Amino acid sequence: MPGLVVFGSQWGDEGKGRFVDYLAGQADMVIRYQGGNNAGHTVYANGQEFKLRTIPSGIISEGKPCVIGNGVVIDPASLLKEIEYVEAKGVSAANLHISDRAHVIMPYHKVLDALSEARLGDAKIGTTGNGIGPCYADKTSRCGFRMCDLLEEDRFSKKLKVVLEGKNELITKIYGGKPLSYDEILNDYLEYGRKLKDRIEDTSLLIYDYVKQNKKILFEGAQGMLLDLDYGTYPFVTSSHPTAGGVACGVGVGPQVVTDVLGVVKSYTTRVGEGPFVTELFDEIGDAIRNKGHEFGTVTGRPRRCGWLDLVILRFAVRVSGITAFALSRMDTLGGFDTVKVCVGYEYKGKMIDNYPASLEMLSKMKPVYKEMQGWRDDISEIRNFEDLPQGAQEYVKLIEEETGIPVAMIGVGPGREQCVMRKTMF
Ligand code: IMP
Repeated sequence: MPGLVVFGSQWGDEGKGRFVDYLAGQADMVIRYQGGNNAGHTVYANGQEFKLRTIPSGIISEGKPCVIGNGVVIDPASLLKEIEYVEAKGVSAANLHISDRAHVIMPYHKVLDALSEARLGDAKIGTTGNGIGPCYADKTSRCGFRMCDLLEEDRFSKKLKVVLEGKNELITKIYGGKPLSYDEILNDYLEYGRKLKDRIEDTSLLIYDYVKQNKKILFEGAQGMLLDLDYGTYPFVTSSHPTAGGVACGVGVGPQVVTDVLGVVKSYTTRVGEGPFVTELFDEIGDAIRNKGHEFGTVTGRPRRCGWLDLVILRFAVRVSGITAFALSRMDTLGGFDTVKVCVGYEYKGKMIDNYPASLEMLSKMKPVYKEMQGWRDDISEIRNFEDLPQGAQEYVKLIEEETGIPVAMIGVGPGREQCVMRKTMF
């Protein structure tokens, strides 16, 4: 049973959407397993640009079922808008299924996200402000709402009364904010439930049915390895598990459904929000990468911090997520420099370190050890065979493979669906 996970091996924004879109054409089902509308997946297909937040990028390959798994947190207003958005672009969302166990982002989650960030001041996480952390926190505190709750009016209204009372106390008494209206939330969320009810189901059954039929399933990650709640640069992380290990819990079928793990890697490194970043560039090269790659957040518009590729991070991702192949994005963006650098290890107190440490204090003292390499021209967008890539680009790919022991199966040379060098089939 081929089950392929496509996930981000850095801090998100690696360009997963375009690879998922490409591979979705070969899959029978596409499933999101974690995160929420903090994600912003940009895909260029059918001559159009699609910016997706919660809906799996596979929706663009029309007809096949796309599932929002139980590990995802859903802002129903945002999801309804997104459904309208894709349909306005001529793509049917009729085959979009939503897990009845997925948790719901409530208005107070967004309010508390903003208030908590403001209170933290300089120590803020730099969240996307979509209420993701507070929603996952309520899930683990066992006071959250699930999509199935929106369909049970009586239960929902009673539980909302109790939960909102507590949230309003927190908002007003601790943070000095304004209380939220019970009636407004009740009416809005019951209406969302009515609009989404035909899509809400036990998606684990649907997925299991596909597993038993030996169908090809693509699991689409959001964010990236270093934003993982356990393995990321805690506390500067998101509140879910983007690593491949997040799949089984996030979709409701056993871990053996995963047969391959494709780690998406940007040919350089970016990060939004706060937190350590060993290879960050503060000079004109960092600015050049940012401008050339339009490195501004899809969700928040914030400028992304840019730096050289870091192989310490990739080795860490290989180990933690069991990566079997890499998909390298934006080789075209990194073109045009005379030379490029790759971090092959860290120096710490005079010693070489090649494991990514948990301690932020240690990370702040790591010095990147670089290998400098010949660059390549920037227009490589028409190339489809590895051997036709400029020498510098080929050497760059080979270095990644040698240093990590993992093959680079796909190389993005432009934003379009077909602008890709394929070296290995994934399904
Ligand atoms: P949250 O997920 O909104 O709570 O934000 C927590 C951290 O994850 C912040 O540093 C965000 O900038 C980062 N983050 C969340 N989603 C994404 C994403 O899709 N791409 C890149 N960074 C993200």
